[in-house]
Amino acid sequence: MNERKGFVDPKFLEELRQKNEITEVVSSYIPLNKKGNTHWACCPFHHERTPSFAVNEADQFYHCFGCSVSGNVIKFVQEMESTDFMGAVRILAARAKMEVPENNFDSEKAVQAKKKRDALAAIMLDSARFYRSNLYSGDSRADAHLEYISNRQMTPTTVKKFGIGASLDFFGLADYLQEKGYSRADLLDSGVLTESKSGKLIDSQGGRLIFPIINAFDEVVAFGGRLLEKRDFAKYKNTKETMLFNKSKTLYNINLLKKLKRTQPIKEVIIVEGYMDTISLYQAGFENVVASMGTSLTKDQARLVKRYSENILISYDGDFAGQKADLRGLEILKDEHLNVKVVPMPEGLDPDDVAKQGKEAYQKCLDAAMPLIDYKIHALERKYDIQKSEEKRLFLAEALKVVNTAESETVKEELLKKLRDKTGITYQSLERDLSGVKKEKKTETPIQQKIIVEAGQGSDKNAKAARFILAAKLFSAEYATEFDLKSVRFLNEVHQVIAEYVLSREQAGERIRPSELFEILDEDCAEFNEILDLNYGDKLSDGVAERFFADSVKVLQIDFLDREIGALKAKIETETDEAEKKELMKKLTESMQKKKKIR
Ligand code: UTP
Ligand code: MN
Repeated sequence: MNERKGFVDPKFLEELRQKNEITEVVSSYIPLNKKGNTHWACCPFHHERTPSFAVNEADQFYHCFGCSVSGNVIKFVQEMESTDFMGAVRILAARAKMEVPENNFDSEKAVQAKKKRDALAAIMLDSARFYRSNLYSGDSRADAHLEYISNRQMTPTTVKKFGIGASLDFFGLADYLQEKGYSRADLLDSGVLTESKSGKLIDSQGGRLIFPIINAFDEVVAFGGRLLEKRDFAKYKNTKETMLFNKSKTLYNINLLKKLKRTQPIKEVIIVEGYMDTISLYQAGFENVVASMGTSLTKDQARLVKRYSENILISYDGDFAGQKADLRGLEILKDEHLNVKVVPMPEGLDPDDVAKQGKEAYQKCLDAAMPLIDYKIHALERKYDIQKSEEKRLFLAEALKVVNTAESETVKEELLKKLRDKTGITYQSLERDLSGVKKEKKTETPIQQKIIVEAGQGSDKNAKAARFILAAKLFSAEYATEFDLKSVRFLNEVHQVIAEYVLSREQAGERIRPSELFEILDEDCAEFNEILDLNYGDKLSDGVAERFFADSVKVLQIDFLDREIGALKAKIETETDEAEKKELMKKLTESMQKKKKIR
């Protein structure tokens, strides 16, 4: 979404926001109830009975405590009207009787990017319409597609709901789009067409059944195309990555999930692998489903789904147990503090297969969902035949490693009891073996730490400290005014952006307005929401806030020095030049002294 921002003159945007006072705009959509400085309503973005949607008049932004959405007045209109940034700007400009400065863009390059994006979006929409109209056109070449749809038991309502379509050959779409006047370059960049060996434009999905991939703003961004019969080509083919489509940031069916959230509370979201899994579950009545489209989950996908629910049910194919990549995806969800449970599937079946057996069959699987750690042990049980003593030993060795990763002693005890019941080994023996595993773990720690740092988020403690410092700055806490943000380093990209913003405002001697960050940061920036959350209640102003601020600064400074010390030590070990080594040693001592002083 970012590419659509920043094209408009910032001065114009500022005036636009001033003339569209947020409580006035919001109350033209939903009734607001004023209490003190805050206006309350039932959240328009998720279903609720008691108001947890707060509009902050002083800082001109909204935040929902129920579902964690937040934004400024532009974002609000964007969401309410299901439009993009510029669409919302136009609506607000009309409301304030302002003229949108079409020629006042800040750079020619940005104008071009915006034009390009609009052209690609138009191509995608036209293509989706073309594919859809093919399906019921009466053309006999669509018979195969219709038969396939019927074999897979998709109802006409489902076909319509998901916008399913048909590519009948390699040339129909190319002719249609060219007739509409799109340029060759745009057509190729959209990914819907490719060049044949002879240089002709052809349909990338020639002959396939088409599943449009639609984003949360109801824009078609890509297509998944399925072969109708088994051949040596890939079964599914997705549109290549384009300006509109970044597979690792997209979830299939997020558009319908967003609509669902407006009509009812979403207790949990089911994540499946495939298009057909999604469609079958939806049709069976499980509408709270999205698909990761085959790949292992990414951090961006985790953050996207977090907007809809904190509770995630992973429902992958029955044979995924051993696939490390998938388990890694699940760890990513946990890193985003989502509650993850895994839905066990009968061996060799996928959710689509089970849903075909009826709603109850799949509900049974859901009811058996288990926490990730239990699932890992469950998966090991499937891998080994514990009736054989050799395999039982291997099973226990691996299972104890899993138990050792449990976050609490309670969970450890529970799991050990389960292992005892399964294997007949006494609790005492298992516990003793577990303490052996613990010693082994020590050598693994540095590697684990390294991975976290590489992911750019630092430890939980660091993240908390960074958030507090930034929130104090953003909301102008008195004890933070003198503090120079340049004296600490932020590892997280969002933190860096916020710090830069604050610094630039301070330098210009201008007021810091948190709501301006909504124009700089991504739509669904969960990390930013966490920081905004700190402004509620008296977290930033209570008796210990100042102390906590000072401690947070220390945490970041020490963390930075630790990193430096680590790097210096590593360099010293490999440095062969004696003079150079001496220099490094000096630096090392300095850093260590600095650290001591902070403590
Ligand atoms: P599956 O092979 O499990 O697909 O891949 P499926 O949905 O069960 O397929 P059916 O039931 O045979 O139609 C899961 C998902 O991985 C992606 C697709 O998004 C698919 O839905 N995938 C799979 C690809 O992108 N390319 C492939 O070649 C295969
Ligand atoms: Mn399948």
